[in-house]
Amino acid sequence: MPKVTYRSHDGSEQTVDVKAGTSVMLGALTAGIDGIEAECGGSCMCATCHVFVDDAWLDKLPKLQVLEDEMLEDTACERQANSRLSCQIDMTDDLDGLVVELPETQI
Ligand code: FES
Repeated sequence: MPKVTYRSHDGSEQTVDVKAGTSVMLGALTAGIDGIEAECGGSCMCATCHVFVDDAWLDKLPKLQVLEDEMLEDTACERQANSRLSCQIDMTDDLDGLVVELPETQI
């Protein structure tokens, strides 16, 4: 099963298995990782699943869609060049080893 490393704002890391086809957001919630709120349940309507993607992985992710791009303007922590919404990143075997950083706050 592919693994994702979630790096907290304080630098601590947790690496968990995230089933292919499951979103990076759901992987965090399932594993009980703090720092993802996901208030809309993955409908790309809340921007509380914001993550900063490790630069090495940016080109491997699915392309940013218009709605996600718009929602990223409403994140609690300022959007960066590597910002994505984790509910819009579906895990694949090719993403095994993905590293994302969690912002200081989602609300
Ligand atoms: S869970 Fe709401 S936008 Fe991702």
